[in-house]
Amino acid sequence: MQEKLLTLKEEITNKLTGVTNIQKLNDLRTEYLGKKGPVQELSGMLRDLSVEEKKEFGRVLNEFKTEVTGMFDSLREELETKALNEKLANEKIDISLPATKIPVGAPNILEKIIEEVEEVFMSMGYDVVDGPEVEEDRYNFELLNIPKGHPARDAQDTFYIKDEEILLRSQTSPVQVRTMLKIGGGEPVRMICPGKTYRRDDDDATHSHQFMQIEGLLVDKDISLSDLKGTFDTIAKRLFGNDCKTRFRPSYYQFTEPSVETDISCFKCKGEGCSLCKNTGWITVSGAGMVHPNVLRNCGYDPSVWTGFAFGFGAERLAMLKYGINDIRTFYNTDLRELKDFDRKDSE
Ligand code: DAH
Repeated sequence: MQEKLLTLKEEITNKLTGVTNIQKLNDLRTEYLGKKGPVQELSGMLRDLSVEEKKEFGRVLNEFKTEVTGMFDSLREELETKALNEKLANEKIDISLPATKIPVGAPNILEKIIEEVEEVFMSMGYDVVDGPEVEEDRYNFELLNIPKGHPARDAQDTFYIKDEEILLRSQTSPVQVRTMLKIGGGEPVRMICPGKTYRRDDDDATHSHQFMQIEGLLVDKDISLSDLKGTFDTIAKRLFGNDCKTRFRPSYYQFTEPSVETDISCFKCKGEGCSLCKNTGWITVSGAGMVHPNVLRNCGYDPSVWTGFAFGFGAERLAMLKYGINDIRTFYNTDLRELKDFDRKDSE
């Protein structure tokens, strides 16, 4: 018996010496340790031995099995580690290789400028609010002190959807009305509303049937035109740099009294006069004014207690000025090359 075990061990050791892959190792394991293998056969022979011999041989056979199983296990572990190392070496990523370029879009400059304006106003305590693009006549006109028959309601200017009552808003000013009515009077208001507006304009370099406005409204006690001037000056400096100067010119809007056009000093020529500012040194960026008492009253605010100012920027105009874009249609075509160019312009 002992002899047999020794020979068998030698045979197994020899066979294992040449093994380099796991499949082969598994086959050998089945061959020697499997049900039909020599070790099992030797176990079967125990039956014919005396009790004493059984005890002795059983012990030796168990030791043998443990040893041989150990040989298979450790070789298996060795081969597995080797295989894993090879796999890792083969799959190593060369991080010095240049990556494949994935084309990415860039945020539209119009969105960016709106976000910038929002940031500035939010830092001054204004809420950013929203309003419907399909609007009722009374919000878009009537409550803003633009009575029936006023030229601004002309079908030439406004997209009417149903009779003369439902329309695509021609300005973001109705959101002033909606906000004041929602608050219901008695509390101050500070809001801006960036949003789409629509007019029956023929599209060209400076007109678009759809464009973005940024409306603003502040209502409180003791608000005067100088508060509007201070606010506008701060915004202009934040957007166009600290050396930006501002001025007001008299104007007319139905919903403000007095009304003004707000100008900034030309950032290109610093007020010297150039093609951008048409040699005036100034660029108009918004309409504004003190909220008309009728509008305050229409919206539940007593004009003897409350005063306020309002303004409306054309977002495309701001972006065109800031980024030197000379055709408004640029914002609305879906040409990726334009978008990439926006990105370049922005990082200049
Ligand atoms: N809604 C005006 C327009 O579309 C712009 C405007 C002017 C808004 C003066 C205002 C304002 O709030 O006070 O031309």
